[in-house]
Amino acid sequence: MKKHTHIALILAFVGGTSTAWSSEPIQPISPVKEINLAQVELGKKLYFDPRLSKSGFISCNSCHNLSMGGTDNLKTSIGHNWHQGPINAPTVLNSSLNLAQFWDGRAADLKEQAGGPIANPGEMAFTHTLALDVLASIPAYVTEFKQVFGNADINIDQVTQAIAEFEKTLVTPNSRFDQWLLGNKDAITADELAGYNLFKESGCSGCHNGAAVGGNSYQKMGLVEPYKANSPAEGRVAVTGDEADRFKFKVPTLRNVELTYPYFHDGEAETLTEAVNIMGRVQLGKKFTKAENAKIVAFLKTLTGDQPSFQLPILPPSTDRTPQPKPFE
Ligand code: HEC
Ligand code: HEC
Repeated sequence: MKKHTHIALILAFVGGTSTAWSSEPIQPISPVKEINLAQVELGKKLYFDPRLSKSGFISCNSCHNLSMGGTDNLKTSIGHNWHQGPINAPTVLNSSLNLAQFWDGRAADLKEQAGGPIANPGEMAFTHTLALDVLASIPAYVTEFKQVFGNADINIDQVTQAIAEFEKTLVTPNSRFDQWLLGNKDAITADELAGYNLFKESGCSGCHNGAAVGGNSYQKMGLVEPYKANSPAEGRVAVTGDEADRFKFKVPTLRNVELTYPYFHDGEAETLTEAVNIMGRVQLGKKFTKAENAKIVAFLKTLTGDQPSFQLPILPPSTDRTPQPKPFE
């Protein structure tokens, strides 16, 4: 297992500092600093705009609902025409901290990722050209794109750039666990602390570590005991072609995990209790007692941070020139 290398890397990273958390495998989340506010405002509108879908009904927020931890809380997502998605929707919260995007890491970053769903037939089922036609038919968008990016024509590069910039703001600092890391020893209870110690001692933090408590490596699902998934997903091998990567997935972030049920790439674990038991068994060969499991779950719930908070964007209306939505085709 790679767990020792990860821990060593993280220790090397924080080595020079003498912060309260420097000996811990998890670091606090920092609020965003460098951000282009004009792009964020535009990206926020696009994130909520269902007119980027063929049906005129599905937006990024349909599946990554920011009122529900950035997920849809469904086993697998519902796409265009009520299409049953193949895989569980991961949260967009803190996704800027991921080493790459998607369960198999096939998109390098948020900008590359953001083009995918619009043109995915099972998701928003549009084309980039048609999405651009819709935006170009709405004068308020044309003006705003020009203000933000300078040039006359709206292109997909600007659309994905603005959405990605907005997504960078979706970090969740100030969880009770982060308050504890930063030195407030009363921020978590004795049981939650015991859960954290179990999390470290059992080896969970070998894979779930760093500021996102995951998101920074690909690991095999079913390391010590095979996991029978209810999904066709093959994992990282789909990207690398390397058989050694079969059934390796990006380790999900455990930030806000209390909100992002159900769990695993196939969405088969309905509760945290179940997810923790399965992880113990298939990743570590451990059977937790009920009390141990409850402590780990209690710890995981301390990872819920401040949720993104902003005014709901009001979208500019369509015009006579705007292509009509096609919800039933
Ligand atoms: C129909 C539901 C649906 C819609 C609409 C949708 N997504 Fe997703 N999203 C998913 C699913 C499912 C995945 C996981 C796919 C995979 O890993 O193969 C995903 C993955 C992601 C990820 C990667 C997160 C991670 O941890 O790897 C990001 C970021 C994301 N979506 C952002 C967006 C944005 C931005 C939009 C709008 C342009 C959008 N999504 C529209 C369902 C959806
Ligand atoms: C060898 C690396 C590894 C270890 C050790 C490990 N995990 Fe995981 N964890 C993963 C991977 C990979 C996934 C995603 C698996 C999938 O979806 O098929 C995951 C998923 C999860 C999830 C579901 C998150 C979500 O959003 O779907 C939880 C909760 C979790 N792990 C908790 C734990 C706990 C608690 C432990 C210790 C008992 C642990 N993990 C040990 C790699 C690991």
